[in-house]
Amino acid sequence: MKRIYLDHAATTPIHPSVKDVMRDAMEESFGNPSSIHHFGRESRKRLDEARTTMAKSINGNYESIIFTSGGTEANNLAIFGAAYANQHKGNHIITTQIEHHAVLHPCEQLEKEGFDVTYLPVNENGLVDIMDVKKALRKDTILTTIMFVNNETGMKQPIQMIGNMMRSRGIIFHTDAVQAFGIESIDVNEMKIDLLTVSSHKIYGPKGVGFLYKRDEIELAQRLFGGEQERTWRSGTENTLAIEGFKKAVEVLQDERDKRNEHYQSLTNRLIHSLDEKSIDYHVNGDLSPEVHVPNIINLSFPGMDVEIFLTNLDLSGIAVSSGSACTAGAIDPSHVLRAMYGEDSPRLRNSIRFSFGKDNTEEEMEQVAERIQLIVNRLASKN
Ligand SMILES: Cc1ncc(COP(=O)(O)O)c(C=O)c1O
Repeated sequence: MKRIYLDHAATTPIHPSVKDVMRDAMEESFGNPSSIHHFGRESRKRLDEARTTMAKSINGNYESIIFTSGGTEANNLAIFGAAYANQHKGNHIITTQIEHHAVLHPCEQLEKEGFDVTYLPVNENGLVDIMDVKKALRKDTILTTIMFVNNETGMKQPIQMIGNMMRSRGIIFHTDAVQAFGIESIDVNEMKIDLLTVSSHKIYGPKGVGFLYKRDEIELAQRLFGGEQERTWRSGTENTLAIEGFKKAVEVLQDERDKRNEHYQSLTNRLIHSLDEKSIDYHVNGDLSPEVHVPNIINLSFPGMDVEIFLTNLDLSGIAVSSGSACTAGAIDPSHVLRAMYGEDSPRLRNSIRFSFGKDNTEEEMEQVAERIQLIVNRLASKN
């Protein structure tokens, strides 16, 4: 049985060119970038080059990139850092109900510490209404954190409009762009983004590395204390090996992004077409229009299915997908994203699957996926 991996929003394999670069880097360069001797200087040079690549990829300055251990740490630094540094100006934060836990949990923690957080609702397509954002603004609002692309549904929020609104009011705007970076072209200046989170392992780079873009003018409270690395925003010897791999992943992405996006769209179309051809009963969670949706993630509800049984059967048939929601102690929690879209009682919370495509998936695989789904649905339906 040929296994089919359709969980690239969870993580991607490492790109062969990234592997090569990391293997070479491991052999050629081990110095500590803070050391002043030859070995240190060699590592420093490589680190500087990677920083330049990251900065250019979002049209930011060289100085604006803070390397972190990934998306979670970058989100934590942005949210706690901005909240603590600006609490003398106010204690109100705006976010949405559909953020990743790496944003929601920091916000919940800040609430416990006395900050006031507004969790904006979304409509049935998982989109925030810009008028709701406007209505939520207060004199004491210091930070707005709204994700670029949702990891469960692939829906894109109106980032540019939110950026304009926040900049005109002097409110810090952070966006978690972990799922957007591989797909969308991002310009932090044009989009008026102050803080932006990126993670390497969603774009064929290694795990455990990412960055936070911080616009020069933005004050952040220091979270880690130690050495002077990353201009003190993130003390600790840099993960030079992973950063080299991340750099290569970004370079390859820049060459291939358009081609990959076209490919993802054809995979989405083929999967939908094959499901329709087989008259499989499903609903799209969200809206597949390209203006509001990325081509590599689709979330589908299969009426009558139970997500846990369905996922297990899909795995047994060689298909790796996910429910998009957290798995706690082996049990799947109903998705907070689908809850925000459809309400607590919607059956979609218990019968939805996220498919996320990668550059090496093929249209033939999409047909096989539809075939295997048909078998499973028929088998499970006959047991009910
Ligand atoms: C939207 C979003 N934000 C943050 C993260 C966390 O990133 P990392 O795994 O690099 O900590 C993820 C990863 O699943 C994500 O999808």
